[in-house]
This record gives sequence, C-alpha cells and structure tokens, in this order.
Amino acid sequence: MDGFQVFSRKKKGKRKSTGAPDILVNTTLVSDNISDTNLRRKVNLARDSITCTDFYTDFKAKIKECLNKVTCIYHEETTESQPKDQIQYVVPDEIVSYGLGNFAECLIARYQLALLVALRDDLQVPPNSVLLYDPKFLSVEKDVLTSFGFQVLKENEEAKRCCERPTLFYMPHCGKSLYNNLLFANWSPDRLCHVVIIGNSFTNMVQNLPSSTLKRCAPLVMNIQPFTEEVVFPGNFQYQDVFNDTVIHVFPKDNLSKTAVEFWEDCSTPTYDEDDLEFIPKS
Ligand SMILES: C[S@@+](CC[C@H](N)C(=O)[O-])C[C@H]1O[C@@H](n2cnc3c(N)ncnc32)[C@H](O)[C@@H]1O
Repeated sequence: MDGFQVFSRKKKGKRKSTGAPDILVNTTLVSDNISDTNLRRKVNLARDSITCTDFYTDFKAKIKECLNKVTCIYHEETTESQPKDQIQYVVPDEIVSYGLGNFAECLIARYQLALLVALRDDLQVPPNSVLLYDPKFLSVEKDVLTSFGFQVLKENEEAKRCCERPTLFYMPHCGKSLYNNLLFANWSPDRLCHVVIIGNSFTNMVQNLPSSTLKRCAPLVMNIQPFTEEVVFPGNFQYQDVFNDTVIHVFPKDNLSKTAVEFWEDCSTPTYDEDDLEFIPKS
C-alpha cells in the first residue's frame, strides 16, 4: 500500500481480529515525483474512506458540540437580539492548521488532511478560510492544498496567531512549543474563549512529562491545563497512530473566570532551546 506497511493486530493463526486498530509504518523515503493529480486523488480516496465510518460520525458530533460552545459565546457577545435556542452556530471564522506534515510521503499526515477536507466540506467553511502552514511542505503538497481551496500561508507564524473571532486550530501531533506559542498569542480570557485546538492532550503532557521540562518548553500549556476542557477523539479510527493522543481542547469562559488577574499578567515571550527538534523557528 503506497510504500507503507500496515501492521495488523490480529493474533497469529486466528482469523478473528482482536478489534484493536492497525498501525501504519511509513517505509517510503521521498516521493518527489508524485504528480499533483495523483496526490489529490490519494487524498480524496483517504477522505472517502473516512467519511463512511462510525469514527467520522462520532467525530463530527464531538467537534460540532465544541465549536457550538465557542461560536455561541461569540454571537452572544456581538449580536444584540437573536433566537438563541434555535440556531446551532458551528462554523468557525477560520480553520488554521500548523504542522500537518508531508502528506505526499506520510500516510498518517494524509489521513489527517483527509479528515480536515471532510470537515471543511461538512461545515461548509468558505474557500480561503482554511489556512495551513508547515515549513516542510513540498511544492506538490502546496499545489494540492491550493487546489482543494485551502490557503497555504507564506510566512512562518510560529503558531503565534491571535484570535478575535472563533477559530479552530488543527494541529495533530505538533511539538509542545507550537501549542505554547499559540497560547501565548491568545493569553487572555477574552481571546482564549474563541479558540478550539485539535491536538495532543495537554492533560497527558502534564501527567507524563517532568515539570522541569514543561516549565522550560511549554509553561503556558502547564498553566492552562487545569482550566481546559478536553474532549477525547473517538478511539475507533482504523489506524491507531493517526489520531492517537488527539483531543479537542476548549477553554470555557466559566473556567477562565476562576483564574486570578495575575495568572494572565506574567507572560513573557517564549524562547526555546536551539536543539528543540519539534519546532522550526522563522529565520
Ligand atoms: C511530529 S510532526 C507531525 C506531523 C504529522 N501531523 C503527524 O502526525 O505525523 C510535527 C510537524 O510540525 C512541523 N513544524 C515545526 N515547526 C513548525 C512551525 N513553526 N510552524 C508550523 N509547523 C511546524 C514540522 O515540520 C512537522 O511536520
């Protein structure tokens, strides 16, 4: 399959699956010469294989519930009279993806992109309101993203995008520094309440990493985690290494209002070790 090996978790000699998802292992080095038409077709195939699954039905319900929370808050703040109990606001102003990775080469990244394409189509997010950046994107990948109606950002924002309006950040398996930078750029209750992040679980980071590492590499992740609501991704995706440790993070206003004023004040620009392999700074 496309230079990838799928390791099935079926028991030797038995026909029945254990029920555990398969694991994808990338055995391809570089797929320099893949055409944009071919790559686009592969992303569409991956999308089609996702949209018919129970995983996708469960995911859609979860993400819509999360988006509804932040968009409702925004509409309550900005609209004077509205039929609050009737309208479900689920369309964010923008979807921004950082660190998607090389989906021409890596099947994990390709399935992650396929989910993004399916979600964009379902939510009917307008063209050019989905923005992506990864410093490692190949030119064929940029062409394919553009052909999907996505906007490929030209500058390395280091994930420091400030949000005044409801925004979904799609950052599966990104480095800690990128999540930390995103929090830094939105470090106030009025901004964070508009932010939804799909990414690695902050709770797992806080539980599994030494606090000295967190203080150095992701202090804001550590600080905000107790006030964050995490909605776990459905566990029934076909391949377990595509959305493992992935959750939807929201920052409910009620939680943020429990913090003291000083909590938001002492926040200097983050700096990271030069040998931080997970983060590519702007040059
Ligand atoms: C661990 S990989 C994850 C790739 C893919 N999402 C996956 O799950 O396999 C982290 C990605 O973050 C990207 N990255 C590093 N610095 C970045 C930056 N400043 N802005 C956006 N992406 C960045 C890297 O190029 C890399 O593709």
